[in-house]
Amino acid sequence: MTVEALRWKGDALELLDQRLLPDRIVYVTCRTAAEVATAIHDMVVRGAPAIGCAAAFGIALEPKEASYAVLAQSRPTAVNLFWALERMRRARDKRAEAEAIFTEDLAVCRAIGANGAQLIPQGARILTYCNTGALATAGHGTALGVVRSARDKGISVIACETRPFLQGARLTAWECMQEGIPCTLVTDNMAGHLMSRKEVDLVIVGADRIAANGDTANKIGTYTLAVLARRHGLPFYVAAPLSTFDAKIADGSRVPIEERPADEVTGYRGARWAPQGVAVRNPAFDVTPAELITAIICEKAVIEAPTRERLQPLISTSA
Ligand code: MRU
Repeated sequence: MTVEALRWKGDALELLDQRLLPDRIVYVTCRTAAEVATAIHDMVVRGAPAIGCAAAFGIALEPKEASYAVLAQSRPTAVNLFWALERMRRARDKRAEAEAIFTEDLAVCRAIGANGAQLIPQGARILTYCNTGALATAGHGTALGVVRSARDKGISVIACETRPFLQGARLTAWECMQEGIPCTLVTDNMAGHLMSRKEVDLVIVGADRIAANGDTANKIGTYTLAVLARRHGLPFYVAAPLSTFDAKIADGSRVPIEERPADEVTGYRGARWAPQGVAVRNPAFDVTPAELITAIICEKAVIEAPTRERLQPLISTSA
């Protein structure tokens, strides 16, 4: 494995500081649950499954009641965080459980990759969004894991930069280059043009929370890509583990959407290009209605044209 977002040392959790990538490789050491919560909040570690793994290790570091609330407040949208905390609460041996969550996530990502690779045609030009790779998981990745698993088919990646936090430009492009997966970087507003010129064969993205009816919350801008894909008759796939499914939420309108600081929109890394004091919105996620999703790829199955009825058997066995 080339990229390690999390390294468990027994008495400490080391997190690759994703804010500094691709320029610098620096690990942040966390020894308390509060330090892990801060690292999640500040985007040192990000991506739904990786957030869940980090939170689990946070409890393992400091298995006391207050730790659960501290970690639960770190970020609101990715349900993997709450799924992991719930599992940790039920577990007797906290360290063993955190290690199991991590190890299982890697195996689950590989299974998602194998399931998804069957859907990828030879030589496909795959447009993806945000970062869903090894950096966002215990390893291998979800949507980017499908790409990894299909790489012997001569595929290539079109990585959208993913404004405003640039997970596509900074992280996905870097991960692909690390492994020699052909990758072309575009800004987010180029996707429609490329589709109209028949330069994209399919779209595959990850998820932060999938409602019981298949509506999917993912990085802001995902919904736009789903609409574009439908307009151009392209498959739009969502790849996610069952830990990202939220059976308690009937549809996507109930997903809590994180609002992030204005300075991510007005500039980047200290630079500002918007006028000082301008009103800003910065929702970090949007919801793609299930009807725009060709299939959801999880570790157990590929669910085509997802609906509540089709997802029900998987969700009820996932807890
Ligand atoms: O804000 P982020 O970087 O945590 O958002 C990440 C995403 O939206 C990913 O697509 C999602 O978490 C799936 S990661 C396998």
